[in-house]
Amino acid sequence: MLEAPPPLWAAAALGLTLLGLMVFLCRRHWAMLRIGYNEFLLQPLRNLLMGDSKEQRILHHVRQHAQRGDPQSVLDAIDTYCSQKEWAMNVGDKKGAIMDSVIQEYRPSLVLELGAYCGYSAVRIARLLPPGGRLLTMEINPEFSAITQETLDIAGLQDKVTVLLGASQDLIPQLKHKYDVDTLDMVFLDHWKDRYLPDTLLLEECGLLRKGSVLLADNVIVPGAPDFLAHVRGSSSFECTHYSAFLENMPVVDGLEKAIYVGPGRPN
Ligand SMILES: C[S@@+](CC[C@H](N)C(=O)[O-])C[C@H]1O[C@@H](n2cnc3c(N)ncnc32)[C@H](O)[C@@H]1O
Repeated sequence: MLEAPPPLWAAAALGLTLLGLMVFLCRRHWAMLRIGYNEFLLQPLRNLLMGDSKEQRILHHVRQHAQRGDPQSVLDAIDTYCSQKEWAMNVGDKKGAIMDSVIQEYRPSLVLELGAYCGYSAVRIARLLPPGGRLLTMEINPEFSAITQETLDIAGLQDKVTVLLGASQDLIPQLKHKYDVDTLDMVFLDHWKDRYLPDTLLLEECGLLRKGSVLLADNVIVPGAPDFLAHVRGSSSFECTHYSAFLENMPVVDGLEKAIYVGPGRPN
């Protein structure tokens, strides 16, 4: 048998190591590459060919497949479309289940959502509210806020939810006087990540948090909100818990942060 000279073995070992490293990196970033490919190439092409937007296609699927007045069927329709056809930035079923358990534990009556998109998480939250409970959801994009409104109408939850069109930073200071809010039981933060920290500070400044108000923030790992995380974890005003979960339909670990406001707000 012919024996390979030692430099050849070294080169083969190095080659295999590099190949392994490449496969590892590709697998790690594959999900992000897929999202990028879909968002920046496939989706604009589809929009051009079909003359609509991904969000309109999601709504169209809901109109066709959900049962009127049945919130679960609306969630199922969106989850099915977004896992089989086009990825979308809904909180999704896995992290949605974590949201459900937080809502079931704290039983909020008045919830504020920052970032409605197509209304998926608004349906998720509103379906668990007690009788008389209220959700206010803020959405900066007029197309998305209209889609959210129709999604909620189909789910039969329109009486529990008010969709506010505008930027969170403009709407939050209006909550007390224009929308009759005293303090919020829960806030779901799911808009652009650079707004998490300033809007948390704004909520506090506007006196909208009370002892026991629950902040639940999505995507604190991917894309990530490091300044928000550092603030709530480093502040004696919050008690934090982290929940790890996969990004919807992606092999990428993300996380939700629960931050309970413990003061110096008004007592319960
Ligand atoms: C991740 S999506 C929300 C997904 C939604 N919560 C769900 O799970 O179904 C983020 C949304 O926040 C909206 N948004 C971003 N910045 C905002 C702001 N400052 N005020 C209100 N909405 C904002 C975007 O237009 C987008 O629709």
